[in-house]
Amino acid sequence: MARPKILVIGSSNTDMIIQIERIPQPGETILGGEFTTASGGKGANQAVAAARAGGDVTFVTRVGRDMFGEKAVAGFVEAGINVQYVTRDPAAPSGVALIFVARDGENSIAVAGGANSRLSPAEVRRAKRAIAGASAVLMQLETPLETVQAAAELAVGAKVRFILNPAPARVLPEKLLKLVAILTPNETEAEQLTGIAVTDEATASRAAEQLRARGVGTVILTMGAGGAFVATASTRKLVRGYRVKAVDTTAAGDVFNGALTVALSEGRSLLEAVRFANAAAAISVTRLGAQPSAPDRKQIELLLAKSQAGSPRRSRP
Ligand code: RIB
Repeated sequence: MARPKILVIGSSNTDMIIQIERIPQPGETILGGEFTTASGGKGANQAVAAARAGGDVTFVTRVGRDMFGEKAVAGFVEAGINVQYVTRDPAAPSGVALIFVARDGENSIAVAGGANSRLSPAEVRRAKRAIAGASAVLMQLETPLETVQAAAELAVGAKVRFILNPAPARVLPEKLLKLVAILTPNETEAEQLTGIAVTDEATASRAAEQLRARGVGTVILTMGAGGAFVATASTRKLVRGYRVKAVDTTAAGDVFNGALTVALSEGRSLLEAVRFANAAAAISVTRLGAQPSAPDRKQIELLLAKSQAGSPRRSRP
């Protein structure tokens, strides 16, 4: 099967990670952590995850002219990603994220966006032909909103599916929501967008319906280990996740989005694609770091096959 062409637009960061017993409180110092660095950034994580899952990925991003930027781009090339639309910012540094990862796998992240904050609509327009030639355009919210809007308009104008992962959480203009074919918030992001606290299937359904009423085509609301709630005009269904031992949940959502976009672009049904994405995300939380945690296609398919064979790794029937 030919690999589907996927265009990812968004951020690239270097993650400075401290693994620590628990996340420190404000004003508190905790000793005993272990430090490591890894390539990250929601956009870059999604691009790498999509490439490993089987996509023919082009990535539009902006990095600084510094060591971090060069290392990030080298990683994209190694993952087989087309870097033709990567801009090197003459003034701003590459994005950096400071991440605490607690023993239970939960995290806390602060980002200095640097060059990501200067990714402009003009850079998106430069990739117009790549947008028109893609099966899907995938974005997140670590770059300016006007850039997200420009990409959505170009994608919709070219009849290309625009998938938006609204992370990190922020309020979005109605004119953007109307252009989104598939929106993939987690519980926090869904609450920020709708005002509905998502705690279970019923509240997920209410939040998803509100977003659909505002113009979003399909909502896939990710609920961590609980799986993902899918809402379309004709379907409302929770697709269960996998029970795994979490080491680091950083980028689980990014891996989900990258894998989902590939599976949909290959023509899998929505529910099949969500199962594929759930499997990819489950594997990612068993590994430390953002991009290092993204599984390859064989690994995803192995977990799917095991769960279909009734493996005990499947969380719930
Ligand atoms: O979603 C995880 C990512 O968020 C990290 O890689 C970090 O860089 C921040 O962008």
